[in-house]
Amino acid sequence: MPGIAIIGAQWGDEGKGKVTDLLAEHAEMIVRFQGGNNAGHTIVRDGEEFKFHLIPSGILYADKTCMIGNGVVLDPRILLGEIDGLRRRGVDVGNLKISANAHLIMPYHVLLDTAGEVKLGKLSLGTTRRGIGPCYADKALRLGIRVQDLLDEKILRTKIRTALEPKQQALRELSVQRRKLRKEAGEGAAPRSEQAIEDAPDPRLDLHTMTEEYVSYGHRLEPHIADTARLCWDALDAGRTVIFEGAQATLLDLDHGTYPFVTSSNPIAGAATVGAGIGPADIDEVWGVAKAYATRVGAGPFPTELGDAVGRHMVERGHEYGTTTGRERRCGWIDLVALRYAVRLNRMSALAITKLDVLSGLETLRLAVRYRSREGAVLDRFPYHQSILHGVEPEYEEMPGFESDIGECRTEGDLPRQARDFLAYIADFVGVPIRLAGVGPGREQSVMLN
Ligand code: IMP
Repeated sequence: MPGIAIIGAQWGDEGKGKVTDLLAEHAEMIVRFQGGNNAGHTIVRDGEEFKFHLIPSGILYADKTCMIGNGVVLDPRILLGEIDGLRRRGVDVGNLKISANAHLIMPYHVLLDTAGEVKLGKLSLGTTRRGIGPCYADKALRLGIRVQDLLDEKILRTKIRTALEPKQQALRELSVQRRKLRKEAGEGAAPRSEQAIEDAPDPRLDLHTMTEEYVSYGHRLEPHIADTARLCWDALDAGRTVIFEGAQATLLDLDHGTYPFVTSSNPIAGAATVGAGIGPADIDEVWGVAKAYATRVGAGPFPTELGDAVGRHMVERGHEYGTTTGRERRCGWIDLVALRYAVRLNRMSALAITKLDVLSGLETLRLAVRYRSREGAVLDRFPYHQSILHGVEPEYEEMPGFESDIGECRTEGDLPRQARDFLAYIADFVGVPIRLAGVGPGREQSVMLN
C-alpha cells in the first residue's frame, strides 16, 4: 500500500499531525502538497511538544525523507525559523527536501492579505493573515516567485519587479491607510480591526532590500532544494510507502468547501496528485481525520456550533486555541452530514477519530444526522448552495456519554461501551471503518481499531 493520503475531514485542526506521525513509522517519505504556514501541527513526543507550520510531521524520524511539494506556498523566513528551532533541539533536518517549483510567500503577500481583510470589515473571512490567498493568486496570474528563482539573483530581481508592478496601487493605498491609522492612533486608540495593519510586519517592499533578503534565504535553503516529484516516483516505484500529508481540510477546500469562507488551496485527496506531482493511481489509501466533535476558526457556516456550556467544555478540555494564530476555535457537535460528504469527496478508505477523550464527562453525546432548511425541508446531503447551508438547523441522534477518563485506554476493549458505540455509529453512518481513535495528545494515547 505505497501511497497514503492523510486528509482533514472537517474544518481543520483535526490532529492530522499526530496521525501522520503515527503512520510515518511505516513510511519512507512524507510529502506536504498544499497550503503554507497557515497550518499548524502539534506533535507530542515523549512529553516534548513540537509545533510545525511548514515542515512535514515526519521530521522527527531520522530515517524518513520529508518533502515540501510544489503545491505548497512557502514563506522562507518561517521555514528557516522552523529549521533553526529543530536544530537547536537536536533534530537533524538533512532529510528535508523542498520542491524547486513551490511558490514563495513574499512580504507584499502578507501585507495584502491583512489589507484585504481590513477592507472587508464585517465581511472578512478571518484568514490567518499569512499571505496565503495573495500568493496563490499570483501563482494563478503567473506572477509568482518560485523556490528555484532564489538561486539566480538577476531572475529574482526581475520577477519581483514584475510582480510588484500591478500591486503598486494597492500598496500605495495601504501606506496611505497606515499613515491615517497612525495619525488616528495619536488621537485615540485605533479600533481592533485596524490595529492589525499597525501590527503587520514592516513593509520591506524596497526592491533591492527584498531581493537581497530572498537571495540570502536561497543560500540557506539551497542544500534542501530538489526535484521532489521524481523522488516521490522513485519511492513509489520501489514499492515504498509515501504519505501525502494534507493541511487545512475538506470543508476549507477552495472548490468544494464553504466558499468564500475557505482557504486558497485544495486540501482534498485529489489535490495530492497536482501538489506532489503524482498520478491518481499512486494513491492507494485515503485516511480522513476528524475530531469526535467539530471545530472551526475564522468566519463561515458551522451548522452544529454550540454557544453553551457544552461548547465551553470542548474549548477548555480540548484546548481549542489555534496553533498558528492563538484564536479560540468555535466548537460544536460532530456533523455526520458534512463528514459523509467529506468521505465521498475524498473517497476515504479509513477514518481516524481524534480527541475522543474530550467528550468524557458529558452526559449525552449528539451527532448531527440531517439538516432542516429554513423552509422546513429535510436535507440528508450536504447542500451545495451557500444560502441554504447558512440557514440549516441540524437534527441530532443522541447517545449516552461516558464518565471515565479514557486517556489510558490502549485497545478497543479498554474503551467504555458508550465510547465504542459512539465510534461504531459514526463508522456505520459514513460507511468507512474507523482505524484509529485518539484518547489524548500523546503519541501513545491512540487506540488502533479494526
Ligand atoms: P487562509 O488560509 O489564511 O487564507 O484562511 C482562510 C480560512 O481558512 C480562514 O477561515 C482560516 O481560519 C482557515 N484556516 C487556514 N488554515 C487553517 C488551519 O490550518 N486550520 C484551521 N483553519 C485554517
